[in-house]
Amino acid sequence: MSNAPRPSFRQVINTIYRRYDDFLRRLYRRLPRTTLLDPLFLLYFYYNRGLQMAAQRYARGVLLDVGCGHQPYRQFFEDKVESYIGLDFPSGREMLIPSPADVALPDVYADAHRLPVRDAAIDTLLCLEVLEHLSEPAQALGECFRVLRPDGHLILTVPFCFHVHGAPHDFRRYTEYGLRHLMERAGFQVVVVHRHGSFGAVLGLMANVYLFHHFFEVRRQFAVRLLLGTVKVVGTIPLLLLVMVVNIMGYLLNLSHDNPHFVVNYLIVGRKAS
Ligand SMILES: C[S@@+](CC[C@H](N)C(=O)[O-])C[C@H]1O[C@@H](n2cnc3c(N)ncnc32)[C@H](O)[C@@H]1O
Repeated sequence: MSNAPRPSFRQVINTIYRRYDDFLRRLYRRLPRTTLLDPLFLLYFYYNRGLQMAAQRYARGVLLDVGCGHQPYRQFFEDKVESYIGLDFPSGREMLIPSPADVALPDVYADAHRLPVRDAAIDTLLCLEVLEHLSEPAQALGECFRVLRPDGHLILTVPFCFHVHGAPHDFRRYTEYGLRHLMERAGFQVVVVHRHGSFGAVLGLMANVYLFHHFFEVRRQFAVRLLLGTVKVVGTIPLLLLVMVVNIMGYLLNLSHDNPHFVVNYLIVGRKAS
């Protein structure tokens, strides 16, 4: 017979809610990223289109994906390059959604600040949603410049309006001007800067991220947690419908109101002059 103490009612409830959250997260990973039911729809809708355009125009040869995570955009690039190499920090898996069985693993484990690659060996570099997590972004961009061959391109994206994520390794947000400055200081010629999403997308995305990821956060009294957790479990379908309505409203507002002062994400492409 086991002598382990029986878990308290609170522990049991907390475990149930945690498992339910994991279940929802795994479910979301299986949905295409651009369904209206996705709380991040207003991020990925514009993001994917921008990235596919960049893949079409700039990807070729040997591609190195720096900070690749589980390589969610690999399929945009794979048929345009000779080889696709994913590189991530050894501890990077902490930032990934915890379902190790179905994530692509990096080919190389290394630090973006010190790339284990010889000079001018890479034709195309990706650095997607990574720069904000680096302690020394200028040094990492210098490394990108070093390993890129002349005439090669760096395709880089960063969030501007997004919640703090990957804490405590979420160090900053960039404007277009900050990005240009960093890229040019590293030696790149800036070829293009794209803004993804404007006022409507920012509003809708923030509302959905809050609703889905933070409203039910558990740093409250147990009774409140119990109530909110039950609402979440019982109300998952109405919650998803609300997410969808917010996505549609955000999309329509975005269509009618393109204001450069409001941006969800930036995509910037830099070229190494020959
Ligand atoms: C927000 S995730 C983005 C992952 C992927 N690029 C994507 O777009 O889904 C940030 C990634 O940067 C990686 N990362 C953070 N610091 C790093 C470093 N110093 N060197 C290499 N990768 C790093 C993390 O491990 C994580 O996988």
